[in-house]
Amino acid sequence: MTILITGATGNIGGEVVKHLIEKKLPLRALVRDRSLVSHLEAQRIELAQGDFSQSDTLDAALQGIEKAFLVMPNTPDQVELESNFIDAAQKANVQHIVKLSVMGAGELPSTFQKWHRQIEEHLEASGMKWTHLRPNMLMQNMRWFAQTIAQQGVFYNTVGDVKISHVDARDVAAVAAVCLTQVGHENKSYVLTGSEAISFDEVAEKFVQALNRPVAYVNVTPQELKAARLANGEPEWYLDAELELFACWANGAGSVVTNTIAQITHRPATTYEEFAQYYAQTHTQDFFPTARS
Ligand SMILES: NC(=O)c1ccc[n+]([C@@H]2O[C@H](COP(=O)([O-])OP(=O)(O)OC[C@H]3O[C@@H](n4cnc5c(N)ncnc54)[C@H](OP(=O)(O)O)[C@@H]3O)[C@@H](O)[C@H]2O)c1
Repeated sequence: MTILITGATGNIGGEVVKHLIEKKLPLRALVRDRSLVSHLEAQRIELAQGDFSQSDTLDAALQGIEKAFLVMPNTPDQVELESNFIDAAQKANVQHIVKLSVMGAGELPSTFQKWHRQIEEHLEASGMKWTHLRPNMLMQNMRWFAQTIAQQGVFYNTVGDVKISHVDARDVAAVAAVCLTQVGHENKSYVLTGSEAISFDEVAEKFVQALNRPVAYVNVTPQELKAARLANGEPEWYLDAELELFACWANGAGSVVTNTIAQITHRPATTYEEFAQYYAQTHTQDFFPTARS
């Protein structure tokens, strides 16, 4: 049984690869650029060069694969590209796909949630077994805020003091690894959250402790956030989609807490405090102005 992992250079796919290496299971990683995964080549992990936009590369990558983990970033053609992968997998007689989706898929009116539900529906209609992993906001999104923390000691969002059940990408990957290697998770959807919902003021406190420097959360209007990030060069379509999601969160849609991670992995979900300590240690240079590094 060989398992294909897509997104092997990414947040979640990269962690899924680590779990499967640990379990010593036959594994193939789909990558667009082999030079980004020399660490995997060094461990003799089988690599397949492929791109969701080039179906012929997927046919070759999927030969002999029984199960696959599907993930890609949010792009305007995400539904088309993930559907290409699903179609190629069905043609290659893949039995089961574990798809990285998002919390609120099929429920919230925001763009990313609608796209993910369209892909989920395409997968369900394919006849293959499926598992939808629906994480809330990843703790690793702290990378979005590192630049302003480094420069101004603050980070910005629009959701006020609402609480969000941020989840660690490493926990999402641990769940994916179980779903890919054990039975009983076929044709199920899992909402994956941290073990607590906390406000951005509380997130700031965790980083004050972890970094031992002042960090504060500043609430701004959607218009202010969009203008600042447009000026920073981010694409307008992406900002509009994010602001739709932030509006849902401001109404409490991101506060739900589940214990699915503990149930599936048999260990508690990472707390924000634990994450902040880990992230501050592994990304110290991101949080301190260049002059001090
Ligand atoms: N961030 C959040 O808070 C959050 C929460 C819930 C759900 N999600 C969902 O998580 C997904 C992103 O996951 P992530 O953070 O692990 O992503 P990521 O770190 O950005 O990694 C994306 C991976 O996809 C690969 N990729 C990109 N385009 C590709 C293509 N055309 N063909 C094949 N591979 C391609 C990338 O490879 P290269 O190295 O070649 O670019 C990379 O390995 C999104 O769908 C998002 O909606 C995110």
